[in-house]
Amino acid sequence: RRVAVIGGGENAEHEVSLATAAGIAGALRRGGFDVDELTIDRDGTWRRGTEVLGARAAGSVAAALGVMERADAVFPAVHGPRGEDGTLAALCALAHTPMVGSGVRAGAVGMDKWTTKLVADAVGIRTAPARLVDAADIADIEFEVPVVVKPASAGSSHGVALARDAAGLREALREAARYDDRILVERLVAGREIDLAVLREAGGRRWAAPPLEIHTDGLFDTETKYDGSARFSVPAEISDAEREALTGAAVRMFDALGCAGLARVDFFLTDQGPVLNEINTMPGMTAESQVPRMFAAAGLSYEELVARMVDAATV
Ligand code: DAL
Ligand code: MG
Repeated sequence: RRVAVIGGGENAEHEVSLATAAGIAGALRRGGFDVDELTIDRDGTWRRGTEVLGARAAGSVAAALGVMERADAVFPAVHGPRGEDGTLAALCALAHTPMVGSGVRAGAVGMDKWTTKLVADAVGIRTAPARLVDAADIADIEFEVPVVVKPASAGSSHGVALARDAAGLREALREAARYDDRILVERLVAGREIDLAVLREAGGRRWAAPPLEIHTDGLFDTETKYDGSARFSVPAEISDAEREALTGAAVRMFDALGCAGLARVDFFLTDQGPVLNEINTMPGMTAESQVPRMFAAAGLSYEELVARMVDAATV
């Protein structure tokens, strides 16, 4: 079977998406699939391998659709806006091309940390108390510090900062505004950082891999995410009750958004139980990333994981 894997993309996570796509393409080939590697360059033009497709973004998308149409499934491995946010899912849906992973709704809602909070709240999952700020209003806004400032739609912690004083808050708001018009100002949550991953198999069974704990010296920020200094323990050393609470919340969130394929659901484990940080409908998936490690702990190899994701592709 032939799978078109899409990597790259136009946002700050371009390089991470290239790494995820390369990892997935390699695992698929080892599993016996034929793979077409499509790359979206930073300016929105697409390539197939090194061959530039079409002219400018629109012509490129049109040419790429031809490649996608010949595949049995498309695997959009693009993190962040104009990728994970439902846009690639929309392209596949309009072209009636079977696609791996979440559709338009789950991608769009999961990309936006504010709407994610609203959904979590509706299904009884706690998140950090927060306010939504329009980037146009940041000059006049006051908050009690410390707070965490985040663009509503970004990934890999780009534009995220912990503000400890008024000057830090101004700077953090300006930095977040570089990534999105919608900015979240959140109360700091003290807890252990635990990731869950939920897989929806062909046939509809959803199950969570063993939880993974992230150990860092400070914040799990953009640098720490990719400099190799963070340590993961999987399965996380938590009680059965904590594991059940986290797993239940992860699957509930997956279902509330109507995710497909796979999602990583990130929590803080506090003295009062799980607090949702965010959901990633296209999480980092290199061999070293959290998701393949979590499924390995469940006895599922990286090759088997991506094969099951392809099996569960939907039109
Ligand atoms: N946004 C990054 C890739 C992640 O969630 O893994
Ligand atoms: Mg994320």
